[in-house]
Amino acid sequence: MEDRYTISEIGKRSDHLNSKTNYTIGKIIEEILDCMYDGIYITDGNGVTLFINKSYSSMSGIKKEDAVGFHMQDLIKKGYFLESASLKVIETKKPVSIIDCFSNGKKCLATANPVFDENGQIKMVVTNLRDMTELLDLKNQLEELYDLNKKYYFELKELRKDIENKYNIIGNSKSMIEIYEIIDRIAETDATVLILGETGVGKEVVAREIHKNSLRKNGPFIKVNCASIPESLFESEMFGYASGAFTGADNKGKPGLIELANKGTLLLDEIGELSLSSQSKLLRVLEENKVTRVGGTEPINIDVRIIAATNRDLKKEVEKGTFREDLFYRLNVIPIYVPPLRERKEDIPLLSKYFLDLYNSKYNKTKTLSHKAFELLKWYSWPGNVRQLKNLIERLVLTCPYDIITDDYISGFFGKEEIEELYNLGRGELTLDEAVSTIERQLIQNALKKYRTTRKAAKALGVSQPTIVRKCKKYGIAIE
Ligand SMILES: Nc1ncnc2c1ncn2[C@@H]1O[C@H](COP(=O)(O)OP(=O)(O)OP(=O)(O)O)[C@@H](O)[C@H]1O
Ligand SMILES: [Mg+2]
Repeated sequence: MEDRYTISEIGKRSDHLNSKTNYTIGKIIEEILDCMYDGIYITDGNGVTLFINKSYSSMSGIKKEDAVGFHMQDLIKKGYFLESASLKVIETKKPVSIIDCFSNGKKCLATANPVFDENGQIKMVVTNLRDMTELLDLKNQLEELYDLNKKYYFELKELRKDIENKYNIIGNSKSMIEIYEIIDRIAETDATVLILGETGVGKEVVAREIHKNSLRKNGPFIKVNCASIPESLFESEMFGYASGAFTGADNKGKPGLIELANKGTLLLDEIGELSLSSQSKLLRVLEENKVTRVGGTEPINIDVRIIAATNRDLKKEVEKGTFREDLFYRLNVIPIYVPPLRERKEDIPLLSKYFLDLYNSKYNKTKTLSHKAFELLKWYSWPGNVRQLKNLIERLVLTCPYDIITDDYISGFFGKEEIEELYNLGRGELTLDEAVSTIERQLIQNALKKYRTTRKAAKALGVSQPTIVRKCKKYGIAIE
């Protein structure tokens, strides 16, 4: 009687099978079902178990002999199942899916399908069981990653906003207004831009302003400092490497900086520092708009707007043979020259005020600059350009013990060379009167610092004491 419930029996019942081969095919089917990754559970039309395959047994922990021949209802009573998809199918005559949780902790998706006879009666219910434990774990992990991703997305948005504010562009000089006009005209195009100018003039600020005003503004802005990439690492840093390109921890592969800038803007900063061999590698990528990772075979299409910046005179470098002429022309589509601060002194008060507000709010201070302090800042020639001005204002805000920062206080921050710069008449930036006053003021200050009394200072400078007192008044120098 036992044999009634074997697959051989099911095979024998099948109308499609030839009676001679029934047993063999039934046996083969049984073996095939036992090889399957999914669990298979078969009941007859009343809910009596006919067959369970090996996968089902190992997933559920239910042994074949404990199930075959028994009614599903009895198995529920014995605690093997909480509910039965097969019984639901018999009841509804429709496919049913439920999640089965077994005592071994496994969570499985059971999908039961009815098999009808020619009279429309259910002759079998075939249930397919798939282990969902791993899938559910993966789903949970995916949900966690999704949440994390959302968090990063918002953080990135905030950071981008911060960075944008950090790189606000300030200046109302004629040359800066011309730069704004160029930015307006070219930002929305994908034209390559070459930004030239001394160190600290704001080349990066201009590059970011172009990105901010471009159609790529929501894409990445990646800055590559060409001077800081060693030649031997140029390709792997810029183009990335394919998995297996190197042995060891980095074996997984990594996108290069160019790939990271896809759909955004790539700032090639200090491009003048690139070696000739790196220049030709870069040129090839820029011309083909494709990168191939180191060790990779498939070129990857890239959609990147290129901005290059340098404080070198690239044309001269081309003449000297240290910069490739073809790369120079490839980059020099829209050149933007940012003049040094000493050539656009009108920007100094505006920039100083901007940085003062910036650091007052950062350090919770309320410092102001005296009128003469502004004048002094305007006189100075700023060899380090805007960066130097910005750093000085930060120092002043942090260190000045008074609410009003005076020219006197500021001059203490200029070193010997800077004072020489200040008095650099050769540049023709000061009128003779301005230069004389500045030197006079500085000399008196230095003498007072050294000799302490106006009498001694006067003697050292070869003038009368009343003259010193009068000049101190004129220049606003405090006498102790
Ligand atoms: N027009 C400007 N408005 C506001 N801040 C500016 C301006 N120009 C420069 N800065 C500030 O001065 C500093 C130096 O600017 P930036 O880094 O853009 O100079 P750079 O020309 O790229 O210098 P380097 O050649 O040394 O890389 C930055 O902190 C920047 O925010
Ligand atoms: Mg820079």
